[in-house]
Amino acid sequence: MNILVTGGAGFIGSNFVKYMLKNHDYNIINLDLLTYAGNIRNLSEIKSNSRHKFIKGDIGDRDLLEKIFIEHKIQIIINFAAESHVDRSIANPEIFLKTNILGTQALLDVAKNHWNVATNDKNNRKFKQGVKYIQVSTDEVYGTLGKDGYFIEETPLAPNSPYSASKASADMIVRAYHETYGLPINITRCSNNYGPYQFPEKLIPLIINNALRNDTLPIYGDGKQIRDWLHVEDHCRAIDTVLHKGENGEIYNIGGNNEKENIEIVKLILNTLGKSEDLITHVKDRLGHDRRYAIDNSKITTKLGWSPLYTFNEGIKHTIQWYLDNDEWMREILSGEYMKYYEEIYK
Ligand code: NAD
Ligand code: DAU
Repeated sequence: MNILVTGGAGFIGSNFVKYMLKNHDYNIINLDLLTYAGNIRNLSEIKSNSRHKFIKGDIGDRDLLEKIFIEHKIQIIINFAAESHVDRSIANPEIFLKTNILGTQALLDVAKNHWNVATNDKNNRKFKQGVKYIQVSTDEVYGTLGKDGYFIEETPLAPNSPYSASKASADMIVRAYHETYGLPINITRCSNNYGPYQFPEKLIPLIINNALRNDTLPIYGDGKQIRDWLHVEDHCRAIDTVLHKGENGEIYNIGGNNEKENIEIVKLILNTLGKSEDLITHVKDRLGHDRRYAIDNSKITTKLGWSPLYTFNEGIKHTIQWYLDNDEWMREILSGEYMKYYEEIYK
């Protein structure tokens, strides 16, 4: 079986590709544009794995997609590729619409073209390509919560940032291709991930990195915003579960029942690293900042039997240790384009 994974050089995608190669016999075709967030070094441990093929390219490039589908007889598509950072979407929304909406539509079109095409394999058997399309979406499509309540799959979409609006639009298009053309799909909506290989623009690696370098820690507003954190490996297992057990056309929320205030996480990291809380600096709040996310994961836990394996305490310890052990990986990022972005946003 050949799986097309898009965005497989990013944080979650690279963890997913490695997880799948380790746990299954599938061949993985990994299509990634290697934007600032994509890093081929995230894949160095599978460089010589014959079941993994990396292709540099854009999910919006239909000619390339056609070629990949034909050459590799793609049967499953898992779309991680996206512009993923909220702050960047506030500064420059357009690329978010292009990649996250139009890119998704290009993928869907090509998947649809190939889905119903009966092809001969080398033993001259007829089979159908494109068994399933999975859209990796986010809990941010639901908008923000007050003190109480949880996001369920039926919560109305109310995205508040250009990023989340682009992801919500993509979800609607995926749904439409299922309803209109019968394309077999699932949509997953996960809460905040943390773990190895996360780009340092995101809260947890940013705080670890700045604290290690004794730089100030920019906390938006009062720091009491709440996110529901899940270790990336648990997210990978959840997508694997949806791939194998998900019911056609269904949406699955993914989360670990692990709500934390940002400031609590920052203090935990400082404490673990033995650094002073004086590094904390409250800065201007993010525009349209969502106050609280919290996932009701009962659909995926009861219907598909998935549940998270990591506790937050062990996951965050393991993550901090990974960043301590992989300073070279971080230093390479800090020597490039990222620093220009950091200067513009924070200084
Ligand atoms: P990331 O920014 O680390 O990685 C995105 C990857 O997509 C990069 O490798 C990048 O090069 C690639 N990419 C961007 N544009 C592309 C294009 N046009 N064609 C091909 N590749 C392209 O993001 P991430 O945090 O790994 O998130 C992956 C997916 O999971 C995204 O769709 C995101 O919306 C979703 N998600 C993320 C989280 C989270 O907490 N990080 C939570 C829930 C859902
Ligand atoms: O909920 C899932 C989403 O989680 C994903 O869809 C997104 O791709 C991913 O980026 C993430 O979005 P957030 O905006 O929640 O993550 P971020 O790490 O950017 O911020 C987490 C919280 O920390 C948020 O409340 C903003 C705050 N923050 C963030 C940064 C970068 C700060 O206070 N200071 C910072 O410098």
